[in-house]
Amino acid sequence: MLVSAKEMLTKAKAGKYAVGQFNINNLEWTKAILQTAEELKSPVILGVSEGAGKYMCGYTTIVGMVNGMINELGITVPVALHLDHGSYDGAKACIDAGFSSVMFDGSHYPIEENIQKTKELVAICNEKGLSLEAEVGAIGGEEDGVVGSGEVADPKECKMIADLGVTMLAAGIGNIHGKYPENWAGLSFDTLDAIQQLTGDMPLVLHGGTGIPADMIKKAISLGVSKINVNTECQLAFADATRKYIEAGKDLQGKGFDPRKLLADGTAAIKATVKEKMELFGSVNKA
Ligand code: 13P
Repeated sequence: MLVSAKEMLTKAKAGKYAVGQFNINNLEWTKAILQTAEELKSPVILGVSEGAGKYMCGYTTIVGMVNGMINELGITVPVALHLDHGSYDGAKACIDAGFSSVMFDGSHYPIEENIQKTKELVAICNEKGLSLEAEVGAIGGEEDGVVGSGEVADPKECKMIADLGVTMLAAGIGNIHGKYPENWAGLSFDTLDAIQQLTGDMPLVLHGGTGIPADMIKKAISLGVSKINVNTECQLAFADATRKYIEAGKDLQGKGFDPRKLLADGTAAIKATVKEKMELFGSVNKA
């Protein structure tokens, strides 16, 4: 059964570790992430962007696939199915479809409008027992057509949004979706520290988990980050392993063209990436 992300993130914040959100793209992705979470006894959040939602034939298809897998694979660890960077309408659609968690990304609106829309969704999510992630200060880079300018959030605005009763808060602290450029300035820990001082127990979310060095991840967790989003790194690992399989001519040997064989190395690479992240984030054996 899907669960809200509230309990797992409250525990993570108190225990000074982070739960990974891994974005899904298809059946192989979902299976790889769920199996790894179960093997490592780690709670997990499956992220779905609106674009990935369309690709996977809509939110109800995804809810059906994930619930089916939890059942058929005997998954016992807590799993939240979460809309990533949702619009207001997208969040409502996911709530109706049976997601257990949604993000409303109102970071591109003026703060008053972000507050108003977030407030409405807090009321809906509270009534249904779902978790809600809000965002202040756009995350840089491009994610599925959503382009952020890489702002550093205003801690006072973070406090205003946190006080609305959201479950977790994503704040821009110099993080970027996708690969980090050579000249990246790194995370703004002063900003993160200031945000945590104002928001207290609120679990903070670090987007753009791909390519952030391990020491920065650890420091971010020590300053209140309890959810870390990873997407691109699984895609790169999958693509690399699949390319190697084809370059080695394995698809031309025997039944190597069978998708169950063709996609096996890529799927194993996703599992290895998820394992590495769960170990780094400290969520292993926390289910
Ligand atoms: P990356 O693709 O950089 O890992 O970011 C993922 C993310 O933040 C999803 O919201």
